[in-house]
Amino acid sequence: MKVAIGCDHGGINLKPVLIDYLNKKGIEYKDFGTFEKTSVDYNDYAESVCTAVADGQFDKGILICGTGIGMSIVANKIKGIRCAHCHDVFSAKATREHNDTNVIAFGERVIGPGLMIEIVDAFLFTEFSNDARHIRRVDKIKSLEQKNFK
Ligand code: RB5
Repeated sequence: MKVAIGCDHGGINLKPVLIDYLNKKGIEYKDFGTFEKTSVDYNDYAESVCTAVADGQFDKGILICGTGIGMSIVANKIKGIRCAHCHDVFSAKATREHNDTNVIAFGERVIGPGLMIEIVDAFLFTEFSNDARHIRRVDKIKSLEQKNFK
């Protein structure tokens, strides 16, 4: 499994905890930044991570900002990305089983390191259910990407 990770200044303190977890689990990852506490735009890091996932270079993406909201909004604008804004383990597991999400976003100002690791673990190691109804619904999401809305 290859994972792309990124944060803005609002997620810079939680990212080392995530990196430590990935290293201990032996999970291959690339850190797309930011690497400093200077204020940056979350948009740029969400775009870098999500385009790399959408291109197939990485299996999953993990985004951290202050709330996870800005990152998730940007992520879900990118074709091929289904991003869950998620702060609990139940939802992290369910969104993999039901929505086949490939990116997760959460906020450093919302959760602590212990819960974050449990959420990430559930997200990375829960498989899509492959139930017909969930396949149908994910296909409907994908079909929206082909439409041109005015
Ligand atoms: C940065 O202050 C903050 O707005 C950002 O990290 C994120 O929470 C945006 O949604």
